[in-house]
Amino acid sequence: MALQSDAIFEFIISKVNEDPAKAKAVNGIFLYIITKDGKQAKQWTMDLKAGKVYEGAPTGVKPNTTLTISDEDFVQLATGKLNPQSAFMKGKLKVTGNVMMAQKLGPLLKAADAKL
Ligand SMILES: *[C@@H]1O[C@H](CO)[C@@H](O)[C@H](O)[C@H]1NC(C)=O
Repeated sequence: MALQSDAIFEFIISKVNEDPAKAKAVNGIFLYIITKDGKQAKQWTMDLKAGKVYEGAPTGVKPNTTLTISDEDFVQLATGKLNPQSAFMKGKLKVTGNVMMAQKLGPLLKAADAKL
């Protein structure tokens, strides 16, 4: 299934490939669970420790942080129309695992914002 968030992940992949050192500085493994109509639609792994971003669950590693968000809200978040804190407070963004680490993702998403 094609989702709106695919383009953002593709962009993040290109950013990470362009500057792997910057991604590795985040030094975390994140799993994004993207939902559509209340159901899980896709998973994306951001293994920034290894400088890799790919579709699907993490292979051979455990995520530090799992973020669950709908396709629409992820796009809003990445384009700066939705603030991560308020998304979290409103229950649009669910974070499990290391919550502090999720905050390090800001700059990568901001980069996507500049593009879209
Ligand atoms: C993140 O996960 C990796 C692998 O599971 C682990 O080695 C690392 O210590 C974790 N980092 C933090 C900050 O929890």
